Amino acid sequence: MAIKNITVLGSGIMGHGIAQVSAMAGYKVNLRDIDQKFLNKAMQKIKWSLEKLTEKSKITKMDAEKYINNITPTVDLKTATKEADLIIEAVPEDFNLKKKVYGELEGLSSENTIFASNTSTLPISELSSLTSRPQKFIGIHFFNPPQLMKLVEVIPGIGTDEIVTKELTAFVKSLNKQPVICKKDVSGFIVNRIFIPLVHEALYSLDRDHVSMEIIDSAVKYKLDFPMGIFELADYTGLDVIYKASFEMNLRDKNVLRMHPSVKVLFDKNELGQKTGKGFYTYQGENYERINLTPEKASQYDISSILGVAANNASWLLENEVCTKADLDTALKLGMGMKTEIFELVSKNGTEKLVRHLLELEKCEGDFYKPNDYLRSIV
Ligand code: 3HC
Repeated sequence: MAIKNITVLGSGIMGHGIAQVSAMAGYKVNLRDIDQKFLNKAMQKIKWSLEKLTEKSKITKMDAEKYINNITPTVDLKTATKEADLIIEAVPEDFNLKKKVYGELEGLSSENTIFASNTSTLPISELSSLTSRPQKFIGIHFFNPPQLMKLVEVIPGIGTDEIVTKELTAFVKSLNKQPVICKKDVSGFIVNRIFIPLVHEALYSLDRDHVSMEIIDSAVKYKLDFPMGIFELADYTGLDVIYKASFEMNLRDKNVLRMHPSVKVLFDKNELGQKTGKGFYTYQGENYERINLTPEKASQYDISSILGVAANNASWLLENEVCTKADLDTALKLGMGMKTEIFELVSKNGTEKLVRHLLELEKCEGDFYKPNDYLRSIV
């Protein structure tokens, strides 16, 4: 089936970016949200992003105009979905909300329409059971900002037709993105299984080591080769996204992360990060802004706990054959901008030292830190 018309449900950080990259690949996109004010904000952000790309000569002014014209913002679900070949759901990460949205979609589009969820963490098979088309249901997980991040995880559920996986993989390539297939429908898939637990672990490191967030973030940036610090990245992603993703992951798998209460505290206070002007850090406004991190600050911090938790979850993914090592490396490079492969970082920091550090943490703070067998096997 040829995909021509796309509908994106939800115009937030991910939804507007997915609409933009689809429009840039020549698709006609209906961008739907429940309130015109959300759509206005989304279209403003798309214009800002296209201007940035024009400034950098990645596209021309004429291209930018054409791309904007490929997007129709609307609050009307019926018109938004009537002609859709592919519906990409990007509403907030709340199972009950997604259930409501899939309920509303019943009967609105053709039986050939593919439903794809941009869920961050929810198992695809669970979501597909909310619809009458599990064979035409799949996960398609973009990374923030979708305009710049090359990776898209493609996650087939138990009932997904093989042909749908092939069509969606081809669709992702047509967006000039790199698909990685997540072979098992596990909570958090590949990248979020590593990223989200690190936000909590960075908070525990803060409690344990009494250093500043800038020091931990500088160490994440300069010793682990991340493009941003972990608190900085959490603010950039949104503490609402982090909290909801953590909640849903924790509900399904108690071993994947160790919940730190501060994430919920910030969520409850509506201190959601860059988009509200305050999260872990304080910002000038809503615009893209970076934290000043330095190699000097990085030198003041031993990154073992954060790397240990990341390595443990990476090992779990390999041990459970969720992805190959090559796909894990591609996913972390293109989905989080990590410049060095994770097991290379482990080896650079001393695998044995890291395992000993995890064993210490296990003794003092509990089973969560128990070194994974795969990690131990490479000592
Ligand atoms: N569109 C166009 N341009 C954009 C943009 C956008 N949406 N967002 C930022 N830019 C621009 C900036 O304004 C900046 O422009 P300037 O040069 O004129 O100032 C330029 O891109 C580069 O920004 P930086 O100088 O800050 O440079 P970086 O090299 O650090 O690149 C980044 C920015 C690509 C965001 C990089 O920092 C990065 O990869 N960060 C990590 C992001 C990440 O990990 N994302 C995944 C999070 S997990 C997720 O999304 C999953 C979900 O389910 C939770």
